[in-house]
Formats: sequence, structure tokens, C-alpha cells
Amino acid sequence: MIKPDGVQRGLVGEIITRFENKGLRLVGLRQLIPSNEIAEAHYAVHKERPFYSGLIEFITSGPVVAMAWTGVEAISVARNIIGPTNGREASPGTIRGDFAMDIGHNIIHGSDGEETAEFELGLWFPNGLSEWQRDAESQIYE
Ligand code: RTP
Ligand code: MG
Repeated sequence: MIKPDGVQRGLVGEIITRFENKGLRLVGLRQLIPSNEIAEAHYAVHKERPFYSGLIEFITSGPVVAMAWTGVEAISVARNIIGPTNGREASPGTIRGDFAMDIGHNIIHGSDGEETAEFELGLWFPNGLSEWQRDAESQIYE
């Protein structure tokens, strides 16, 4: 999910391109301004952490872009593309390493495991995902 800072800074296309270029396949895409309800459900695991209220305030401050990507080991591949939480410590070449200078304003969220991915996909894509096979040749030639 591209966070409000990523959307505000005009990085939506750049971020989608990085996942596409890697070979992941886009099966869901949705822009919305998160309600408190959806933000609190998404970050429920952090409820007791000191940064929780600020995190909810930030994530509900403007539009986010929820994305669903699929591929072999998509979760770890995506997290490697994203980089570690603190943008100042993230390596150049990662999204956070290239675009973030903070822990909170770190451009993008990525699911951290299969169970959280299942939960988050259900939360952000209640109407399900797209079913499609990648087949570039048949799109280029009639
Ligand atoms: P994310 O869940 O957003 O993909 O990021 P992450 O796994 O790298 O980090 P996580 O530990 O799950 O924390 C979730 C988000 O909370 C904010 N945070 N702020 N101020 C702080 O100390 C602090 N620590 C975490 C970050 O926006 C982080 O992405
Ligand atoms: Mg996390």
C-alpha cells in the first residue's frame, strides 16, 4: 500500500513500475482515503505501540493506493523492493532507500507474511481480486 506521503509526492507510477519491472503481476489496485475503522484494523497489531495514534492519523490523512501483487515468493520479493522501515537506513535501490528520510513517513507498506497478507487483502479488497493470466504476445498481435 502506497502511503499518503507516497501519493502526495507523486510516486504512484514510479512504485508500480518497480513492481512491474521486477516481474510481479498486479491483481488489485484501489485508491481511497482510509477511514479510521480500516486504518485501525490494518494496524491492530501495533495498537499498544507508542507510535500507533500518530500512525493512524498519518495513514488517514489523505489517499493511499492499495495494491495486490502476485508471484513466486511475492511477499519477500516485495519487501526486498521496499527496504527496511527507516528510510535513512534503507539501501539505495530500495523504494525507502531512494525516497524516504523517516521511519513514519516511509512511502509504502508491505504485508509481512502469508497470514497478514490474507487479512490485509480481505480488508482492502472486499470485492476480491482480478483473475487474469499474463500473455503479452496476444495483446501485441491480433
Ligand atoms: P510496514 O508494516 O508499514 O510495511 O512497515 P514495516 O513492516 O517496515 O514496519 P512495522 O514495524 O510493521 O511498523 C509499521 C509502520 O509503523 C510506523 N512506525 N513508526 N515511530 C516509530 O518508531 C515507528 N515504528 C514504526 C512505520 O510507518 C512503519 O512502516
Ligand atoms: Mg509491518
